[in-house]
Amino acid sequence: MKRVRVGIIGAGWMAGTYHLPILAEIKEAEITAISEIDIKKLHQMAGKYKIKNIFTDHKKMLKEAELDAVYVTTRPDAIKKIVIDCFNAKKAVFLEKPPGINLKECREMLRSAEKNKCLSMVGFNRRYSPIILKAREILENNGGVNHILGEFHKNLLSKGEYYGISVLISDIIHVLDIISWVGGKSKKVMSFSNKISADWKNSFNALIKFENGITGNLSSNFISGARYERFELHGKEIMVEIMPPDYLKIYKGEKAELIKAEDLTGTKEQRINYGFFAENKTFIECVLKKKEPAHTLKAALLTMELIKKIAQN
Ligand SMILES: NC(=O)c1ccc[n+]([C@@H]2O[C@H](COP(=O)([O-])OP(=O)(O)OC[C@H]3O[C@@H](n4cnc5c(N)ncnc54)[C@H](O)[C@@H]3O)[C@@H](O)[C@H]2O)c1
Repeated sequence: MKRVRVGIIGAGWMAGTYHLPILAEIKEAEITAISEIDIKKLHQMAGKYKIKNIFTDHKKMLKEAELDAVYVTTRPDAIKKIVIDCFNAKKAVFLEKPPGINLKECREMLRSAEKNKCLSMVGFNRRYSPIILKAREILENNGGVNHILGEFHKNLLSKGEYYGISVLISDIIHVLDIISWVGGKSKKVMSFSNKISADWKNSFNALIKFENGITGNLSSNFISGARYERFELHGKEIMVEIMPPDYLKIYKGEKAELIKAEDLTGTKEQRINYGFFAENKTFIECVLKKKEPAHTLKAALLTMELIKKIAQN
């Protein structure tokens, strides 16, 4: 295989903003087919990216188009069934986050991937953000992380929950995925959630003890002033503050050192600095080399387990 023949299921905002333009740039990828239930979007995207094989039924696409890999970028409530159809058709799958609407769905998809011996990757783009990777490298070179704090705040007071799921799964999952990536398997979770000025849970705080001894903190308020995302990685006599996708600050000794994402990548583009380009490139390379990527459904299961524990309170 020289080029990965890719099919897209769900050509909405995420596919149109990130995955399709990025795949069009990756020379090892060929966007071979597209399936979208909205006819207008289907023709728009197929025209823009010169995709010859168009479908409104993903099962027909899986049967008729010659594909090596499929992107499932539909809404979370539709994802599980489609992903399992793709695995049953023996395709490698890139699925957007969240990996199902709950832990059970994530498990079912993982079981199907394993049964069909298919490669999977979940779109947790921040795992490829250059400043997050840099922060992890800095901590590794300084004895490791002993404590991670993740904060994610937004103002969704007038919008409320969407996709019919908690914001813990639709949004806060991004921050919890980084916490879980650094911490590994959680051993003990104390959490507190609240409904403030609304009839849906919009405030989540958690204290996590991981099996490897690392401590994790989550602080998240979704009726707050604005969108704000921040991490602290603590080590012995060092702290790195991360403000994705823009910069990190190293606190060691008297002075703080600032590293901007553009110092690492040469660009201010979000698609690079938030990790979208690298996650797509990695997936295509892994399909070509038949190699497991770092964030498979199996890795995502840890994040979903952590979410379940936090959601219980
Ligand atoms: N990584 C990130 O930062 C990030 C950001 C935004 C959204 N997302 C995720 O991306 C996914 C898609 O979000 P979006 O904002 O693009 O949603 P969207 O509603 O804009 O797009 C989903 C598309 O899927 C299509 N669709 C639904 N069912 C289908 C089916 N059975 N077959 C074919 N097409 C079907 C819809 O018509 C729609 O065009 C969500 O799971 C969301 O959580 C991730």
